[in-house]
Formats: sequence, structure tokens, C-alpha cells
Amino acid sequence: MAAPLAASAEAALLLLVLSVLAAVALRCGDALSLDLYDESCPEAEAAVTVAVRQAMANDRTVAAGLLRMHFHDCFVRGCDGSVLLDSTANVTAEKDGPPNVSLHAFYVIDNAKRALEALCPGVVSCADILALAARDAVALSGGPWWVVAVGGGTGRLSLANETTALPGPTASFDQLKQAFHGRGLSTKDLVALSGAHTLGFAHCSSFQNRIRVPAFQGAADPSLSPSFAAALRRACPANNTVRAAGSGLDATSAAFDNTYYRMLQAGRGLLSSDEALLTHPKTRAFVALYAASQEAFFRAFAKSMLRMAALNGGDEVRANCRRVNSS
Ligand code: HEM
Ligand SMILES: *[C@@H]1O[C@H](CO)[C@@H](O)[C@H](O)[C@H]1NC(C)=O
Ligand SMILES: *[C@@H]1O[C@H](CO)[C@@H](O)[C@H](O)[C@H]1NC(C)=O
Ligand SMILES: *[C@@H]1O[C@H](CO)[C@@H](O)[C@H](O)[C@H]1NC(C)=O
Ligand SMILES: *[C@@H]1O[C@H](CO)[C@@H](O)[C@H](O)[C@H]1NC(C)=O
Repeated sequence: MAAPLAASAEAALLLLVLSVLAAVALRCGDALSLDLYDESCPEAEAAVTVAVRQAMANDRTVAAGLLRMHFHDCFVRGCDGSVLLDSTANVTAEKDGPPNVSLHAFYVIDNAKRALEALCPGVVSCADILALAARDAVALSGGPWWVVAVGGGTGRLSLANETTALPGPTASFDQLKQAFHGRGLSTKDLVALSGAHTLGFAHCSSFQNRIRVPAFQGAADPSLSPSFAAALRRACPANNTVRAAGSGLDATSAAFDNTYYRMLQAGRGLLSSDEALLTHPKTRAFVALYAASQEAFFRAFAKSMLRMAALNGGDEVRANCRRVNSS
């Protein structure tokens, strides 16, 4: 499975050279480049790409981890790197809040930050690193690539209790709509960004409400395809004690593609919040569009990621993504 990424050192070097050349070409030829690090740290983007590519060569699941981490960052206090801060003696940070189940791959951001502090100390913020890493994770999984608008700084506060502002897996259409509209994002953004669930994994706890429904005497949610529900019930037995048990969010969970939407239409959407996209005519139409056209999905996803990444951040450049600067 990991073959295309299990690049030899030689191939990795070639790819690095190519991405630097691409970055140079973009800078010289094109005023559309939003790269504020042009002068201050021209190698910034390539360094992040290398960190993500190296991590993915060992473990493809870091792609999903980085993408979800960026979402959690942006939806709490804006895209300010708050999700990256560790808890301190007196403050329990976002990453130790209840919805953190399966947040992972923080070490990739640490690796990128270390490389960048060696190249150009104090220039590239952890929030920007995360936005770039999420973009690279998508592109390296077969998804679209887009130009990230960099220049956002980090904040100094991360509070576990504020993660309750993140929509949960049992959210209804109205709750999802409210969570997105409250951040200036549309229902179109909601459908496009939910397509991130083309990557990654959910633990049983995230969809137990669909496979053993008290209101149906413990039977599965009838909106699930019966064979899919049966498979999920096998993966997640009642009183499951295997912490790692769960399911891919779509059938091709290492590939960024439009399978998520096609599964949703077939009664194979995993979370209630995924299913909820079918409960309203407008979002159902976007699901149909993206299920029919991967190209339309990719375009919409890149656009919505830029809109999400623009949620206001902070104004500091941390030396270490896990801690605010002292002073
Ligand atoms: C629309 C509201 C959303 C809800 C309610 C939601 C909820 C969830 C839940 C419950 C999981 C599984 C966690 C687990 O059991 O380990 C998950 C996984 C994931 N989510 Fe979302 N999510 C939403 C939107 C998004 C967005 C906007 C993105 C990114 C743009 C995103 C990216 C991901 C990814 C990549 C995973 C897989 C993580 C992994 O495998 O490590 N989600 N989400
Ligand atoms: C945490 O506690 C220490 C010592 O009491 C204090 O100096 C520091 O300002 C506190 N930090 C925060 C973020 O409240
Ligand atoms: C999630 O939070 C729990 C405590 O609520 C903590 O023990 C765990 O380490 C956190 N997970 C991550 C990935 O930070
Ligand atoms: C979170 O906790 C902080 C301090 O502990 C408090 O000031 C704030 O109001 C709380 N926020 C929410 C959303 O509960
Ligand atoms: C699961 O645990 C509950 C109580 O903790 C018990 O009532 C129930 O019978 C158990 N179910 C199975 C299938 O073991």
C-alpha cells in the first residue's frame, strides 16, 4: 500500500529538488503566489513538504491526523496553532479536551518546526506550518494542491473546555449548519470540508449511536445499509474493550478521492454528522455533485480549505509549537 511513498533516499532528494524548483518557478512567474515567506524564508514550504513526506513514508495515517488537526485548530479560536499547545501545570489545553480522540501526528509539526527554526529562526508560525502540512497531506494522498495564504501567527491560549465548540459526530444538520455559519462558512463549505472524511479512521465510540440504537431496541440505524451496519457491529462488539477498534471513514481511507460521497449515497456514511448531509435538499445536492465529479469535489475542497484557513489567528511566532514563548 505504501509503495508509492516508500521512496528511496535518492527519490526523496529528487522530489525535494523538484519541489524547490517548482516553488522558485511559481515565485518568478506568478504574482498570484501568496507566499509571504518569499524573502524571509524561501525554503519554508519545501521544508514542510519534506517533513510531511518523510512521515507519510513510514505511516500514511499521519495525513488524516494533520488534516483533522488543522480543522480542530481553526474551529477553536481561529487558526492560531492553539491545538498544538501542550497542557501546562495550570491550564488543560485543547489537545487534552474531550473530542481529542485520535488527534495524532503532532510530531510531524515538531519536525517541520525544527527544520524551519534551523533555516530561518522566528519567521514561520506554527499555525502556518499546520495549514501547509494539511495541504501537503491532502496532495500527497492523491487530492488537490492549492496555494496556502500564509502570514498568520499563533495565539497564547488553548483551553480544553473550548473544544466543546467543535461539532460532534452526532450533530444534526442544524447544529452543523450553525457551527459553520457561526464561523462565516457556508453549507457548501460544510459539504466540501466533510469530504475530508475521505481520509482516516473513526473509533467505535464515534459511531456507536448508529449501530446499536436504544430507540430501535439496540438495532442499527435504518438509514445504514444492512450489510454495512452488520460489518460495523462486527468491528465494534457490544462492550468493546479494544481501544483501537473502529472503521475507516470511507472504504479507501488512505486515498483522497470522492469515495466518501458515493458511500454516503449508498447508506455507507459512517457518522451521524455525515448522514446529516443527506437530510437537507441543498446539502444533498452538493453530495450528489461531488459523488458524480471528483474534479468538482477537489475544486470545492481547495476553495473551502482556504476559507477555513482564513479564520483569524494570532500574532506570535513560537519557537516551539507546544509552548508559548516566554516573556
Ligand atoms: C462537519 C463536522 C465534523 C464532525 C462532526 C467531525 C467528526 C469527526 C469524528 C467524530 C471523527 C472520528 C474521530 C475518532 O473516532 O477517532 C473524525 C475524523 C476525522 N475528521 Fe472530522 N468531523 C467534521 C469535519 C471535519 C473537517 C472539516 C475536517 C477537515 C477539513 C475533518 C477531518 C477529519 C479527518 C481527516 C478524520 C480522520 C482522523 C484520523 O484518522 O486520524 N473533519 N471527524
Ligand atoms: C500558571 O501559573 C504560574 C505560576 O502560578 C503563573 O506564573 C502563570 O502565569 C500561569 N499561567 C497561566 C497561563 O495562567
Ligand atoms: C486526550 O486527552 C486525554 C485526557 O483527556 C489525554 O490523556 C490524552 O493524552 C489526549 N490525547 C492526545 C493525543 O493528546
Ligand atoms: C473555559 O474555562 C475558562 C477558565 O477556566 C473560562 O474562563 C471560560 O469561560 C470557559 N469557557 C467555556 C466555553 O466554558
Ligand atoms: C454490556 O454491559 C452491560 C452492563 O455494563 C450489560 O448489561 C450487558 O449485558 C453487556 N452486553 C454484552 C453483550 O455483553
